[in-house]
Amino acid sequence: MGAGISVAECLASAASVPCMTHDLSRDGTFDRGKMEFMEHNMAAVEPITSLTLRRPDDWHLHLRDGAMLSAVVADTAQHFGRAIVMPNLVPPVLTGADASAYRDRILAHCAGYPKFQPLMTLYLTETTDANDVVKAAEAGIVHAVKLYPAGATTNSASGVRDFDKVRPVLEAMAEIGLPLCIHGEVTEPSVDIFDREAVFIDRVLRPLRAAVPSLKMILEHVTTADGVDFVRDAGDNMAATITTHHLFINRNHILAGGLRPHYYCLPVAKRERHRLALVAAATSGARQFFLGTDSAPHLDTDKQSACGCAGIYTAPNTLSCLAHVFEAESALEQLEAFTSLNGAAFYGLPPANDTIKLVKRDEAVVFPASRKTANGEVTIFDCGVPLYWEIDAGPMRV
Ligand code: DOR
Ligand code: ZN
Repeated sequence: MGAGISVAECLASAASVPCMTHDLSRDGTFDRGKMEFMEHNMAAVEPITSLTLRRPDDWHLHLRDGAMLSAVVADTAQHFGRAIVMPNLVPPVLTGADASAYRDRILAHCAGYPKFQPLMTLYLTETTDANDVVKAAEAGIVHAVKLYPAGATTNSASGVRDFDKVRPVLEAMAEIGLPLCIHGEVTEPSVDIFDREAVFIDRVLRPLRAAVPSLKMILEHVTTADGVDFVRDAGDNMAATITTHHLFINRNHILAGGLRPHYYCLPVAKRERHRLALVAAATSGARQFFLGTDSAPHLDTDKQSACGCAGIYTAPNTLSCLAHVFEAESALEQLEAFTSLNGAAFYGLPPANDTIKLVKRDEAVVFPASRKTANGEVTIFDCGVPLYWEIDAGPMRV
């Protein structure tokens, strides 16, 4: 057996060290958090084989509705404390009343997981009523508003075309500290799909930040080094979520040697250098970067089609995948910041007050290949390498 350690305990035990900086540095600068973690573990000669983390939160999740909701919600609710739930249903979640009703439908499937809290979002349109947004936020129903540029992705047709039209809502949100979750891609057909995030940052995000500087913004599912650089250098009220799958796949995984629809999502995975920038950002511990899985279940029949849907279903094995990436980067000490601390801090919420334990097995863990729903199967993300970490919580759902 190897050594078990709580990251929180480990870092707390280093209280004599004046201040921990987790600056994202690409120049190999000294990282005090990592040093402390390693010093603490010098006594443990054996490799780390268990890890206790504050319960993680997922700051970007698709749960859908009806049969799909009932099939997938437990994959998140059994391990995560909270999840920011995306509003791109058909029809979308437009008002506080819609969000409240959707929250009830989610909770109806979570009886076995009484601690799980779905945090609801509203879908921003050019006719969103600022007063309704403020009322829903102040009532604690809504925790963010989602901006989809019209046509950018799944069910985004009612999204925003003219950003001036949503300015009053954004100003009202800034006043009450309600974050805007942004799908950061332009939609012009003339812009190459691999450039749409970088172009969005220059053409839309920079002007939006200049127009409403005090608005908290999250560049969701960042996929480029450009996005990482922008967020790292922006002020306190800018952050980014990073998905699990973008830490594993680059565009070759989708396109080389055959077309792989289960690796297709939006924003689409980019070149390897961008994946490496995402891994560096996630494992840095920097406060701006936190987990938003964008776990997005679609029926296999909808993905394996002449015009397949975008979205990758990662909820069942996300934490095992992340432990793998962080271990490979010798950064297990930063996993808790990414999964459990940075997001809560940005949203102005306390971190979870309970923990989960991850254990490293001697044999690779076998995950189910797909999740069954009443209408068909949903393929679970295959990260392409054997996974040894799993949550120590009794038998896995099959
Ligand atoms: O791949 C994606 N799937 N990206 C999104 O932005 C939406 C999501 C979905 O809803 O399926
Ligand atoms: Zn999404």
